Amino acid sequence: MRSFLVIAFAAVAVARSVLSPHISSSLSTRQSATLPTSFRWTSTNVLVSPKNDSHAISGLKDPSIIQYEGVYHVFASTAVEAGYNLVYFNFTDPAAANNAPFYYLDQAPLGSGYRAAPEVFYFAPQKLWYLIYQDGNAAYSTNKDISDPSGWTAPQVFYPNGTPATIQKGLDGGYWVDMWVICDTALCHLFSSDDNGRLYRSQTAIADFPAGMDEPVIALQDEKNNLFEASNVYAVGNSSTYLLLVECIGTGDSPGGQRYFRSWTSNSLSGTWTPLAATQENPFMGEANVVFTDGVKWTESISHGEIVRSEVDQLLRIGRCGDWRFLYQGIDPNAQGTYNALPWRLGLLTQDGC
Ligand SMILES: *[C@@H]1O[C@H](CO)[C@@H](O)[C@H](O)[C@H]1NC(C)=O
Ligand SMILES: *[C@@H]1O[C@H](CO)[C@@H](O)[C@H](O)[C@H]1NC(C)=O
Ligand SMILES: *[C@@H]1O[C@H](CO)[C@@H](O)[C@H](O)[C@H]1NC(C)=O
Repeated sequence: MRSFLVIAFAAVAVARSVLSPHISSSLSTRQSATLPTSFRWTSTNVLVSPKNDSHAISGLKDPSIIQYEGVYHVFASTAVEAGYNLVYFNFTDPAAANNAPFYYLDQAPLGSGYRAAPEVFYFAPQKLWYLIYQDGNAAYSTNKDISDPSGWTAPQVFYPNGTPATIQKGLDGGYWVDMWVICDTALCHLFSSDDNGRLYRSQTAIADFPAGMDEPVIALQDEKNNLFEASNVYAVGNSSTYLLLVECIGTGDSPGGQRYFRSWTSNSLSGTWTPLAATQENPFMGEANVVFTDGVKWTESISHGEIVRSEVDQLLRIGRCGDWRFLYQGIDPNAQGTYNALPWRLGLLTQDGC
């Protein structure tokens, strides 16, 4: 078994060095990261709530967050009964995050209408910021200046021919949601979910990005509630280890089902994902492993969000295990409302050791 594996890996290494000597040398010098199989977190009380302003939204959802030149920049979905759009705000001190004015992105060329679940990163090869989001297709806008929210361009889509056939086939009763882009040194990968237990992945050459996304493949599959949506994929520091998080629906009463995250690792973005902390009892993040400051347990769901990134480029590197913080959406377990109008708010998790 072992020698068979060694031969198989050697064959892959030879193939790689023929096709792309650059990648093969960077892979061989990068170590895999050792991660624990259980995690613990402390959450703030509610950190940011909807404001009683011009838009008077019901829910603030799906945050993407980076820390760039000392400032935290957050992009999130705005939820009202009629549907979703996006908002941007920034702050330097998380304790004062709720004071940050909201800049609603419907004021930018990005425009009004259905846009949700943003992901922000800097695409270094083009010196441009990208915002990835869903608008019925997988969409993106770009901006030269992260500090100028009026600069986000009108949406363009990754799949000009519409929903790819592979995804259309899985959609029965589901929704095509939560697009996520991460690149390695050769390719950019686009992940998405169908709310039916399938995680999809497309790829294109980094030199062609954002064009050229190919027909998706199923990267991971499970029962619907065990692999629901809101995937995040990160490179763990400068190691060869990638971390995949997917939001799932567990048992317990909470509006929209009690949410928690399972996790996997892989040594390649196109590789096989190995479970890490991957159950509701031992989740990556969930009711089972989150304690609340001052004992104020304002949510039982740990739902859609992002690890705070201070390396902001397309490689999506996160810091060392033990230093991670996750901005998430949570909800009062007794909240009432139809799905779109639920009063989601944001909280921040800080990792307790590693
Ligand atoms: C929201 O603001 C309006 C106008 O200032 C005010 O009439 C209303 O009472 C406020 N609602 C809440 C829930 O604070
Ligand atoms: C913070 O957001 C405002 C919009 O609300 C924007 O005008 C400003 O440039 C941003 N500040 C930084 C430092 O990015
Ligand atoms: C990756 O390596 C660079 C260059 O050595 C370093 O500046 C950076 O902090 C590293 N990033 C992480 C997340 O370890």
